[in-house]
Amino acid sequence: MNKRSLKKSEVSEIFGLNRGFEPIVLDFKNISNYDEKSKIIINNKNKIKLMTDNNVVILKNINPITFEKYENIFDILEIKLSTEYRPGIAPRKLKSNSGKSFSSTEATKELCILPHNEMAYSNYRPSIISFWCRKKPKKFGETPLFSCSRIYDLLSPKLKNKLSKPVFFNRLFTNIKTKWDRNSNIGGSMWKNSFGTKNKNKIEKYCKKIGMNYHWDNDKLFTKIKIQQIIFKNNKKYVQLQTPLLGKDVYFFMKNKFSSRFNNRKFDKIIELENYSPPIKYSLNKKNTELFSKNEINEFMNCIFKTGIVPKWEKGDIWIINNIKFAHSRMNVDIPEEREIIASLGEFIDVRIYNSP
Ligand SMILES: [Fe+2]
Repeated sequence: MNKRSLKKSEVSEIFGLNRGFEPIVLDFKNISNYDEKSKIIINNKNKIKLMTDNNVVILKNINPITFEKYENIFDILEIKLSTEYRPGIAPRKLKSNSGKSFSSTEATKELCILPHNEMAYSNYRPSIISFWCRKKPKKFGETPLFSCSRIYDLLSPKLKNKLSKPVFFNRLFTNIKTKWDRNSNIGGSMWKNSFGTKNKNKIEKYCKKIGMNYHWDNDKLFTKIKIQQIIFKNNKKYVQLQTPLLGKDVYFFMKNKFSSRFNNRKFDKIIELENYSPPIKYSLNKKNTELFSKNEINEFMNCIFKTGIVPKWEKGDIWIINNIKFAHSRMNVDIPEEREIIASLGEFIDVRIYNSP
């Protein structure tokens, strides 16, 4: 196993030559036998686990082939993968028998999934997210990564002040599928799929656990949750991103920044019809005040993109991402059938233990 940085040829230049941070690459090239690779992970378990606490770790040429072998890597590293994705927003499909591997998203190919920490709309969220590339996209389909501590450092005092306040998510869980859900059966708009159960008592119990207020009306579930936007851990501040829910202006920012990708009629239509998320409103206070003005959105997004890096997908790569310290996104996809990225969520934590001072 060779520990190194990403080579120039392994980084996409859609952000220019920007390297906002350096993921750690552990390269298993030239180790042809999978059992050997597995033994190396066992022997370096503590070292690798420590790396995943502080950085993005890319296991290159690991190529586990089966879901059992992929999920076993996390058993070795003592990272507990979850079978749950409650109350998930991304429309996903279940991929493995164990219930621990999902499709990364079933969102429409023309859309960008903007920078976010996974499940930043819940107080209970995974501290690790993993992606396994089973099919490498031939064109587009990049997954940019961002450093949440660097974003904080780059923000103006005004934005730092705004982000130091909690936000509110008002979310309506529907009883029917919406355009957002497409052909998913986990996560999304519907309460049944998002909470993974038809049992309303179980849903209510879970809402209480994560600090979510709720009421039912006509088989629809109306909820409100208060979330801190900054996590303070070991004397560092990490901005938690949920930019896909910042409204239309954030998509107009993408259209300007990456016009060759998003300046098209299909993208416009998705934004016009607000089909970029399930019914959820993200606001600064209980009065539903917008979090940012248009100028502030541009400033915020520019800071985020300065901290980014876009590793190129290679078949057989596994990315292990600390979901508190790093955020991710997805560019538009060319041919969905040619891209298969598996997502797993590990080590759920209650972020309310990290109070910002
Ligand atoms: Fe995500």
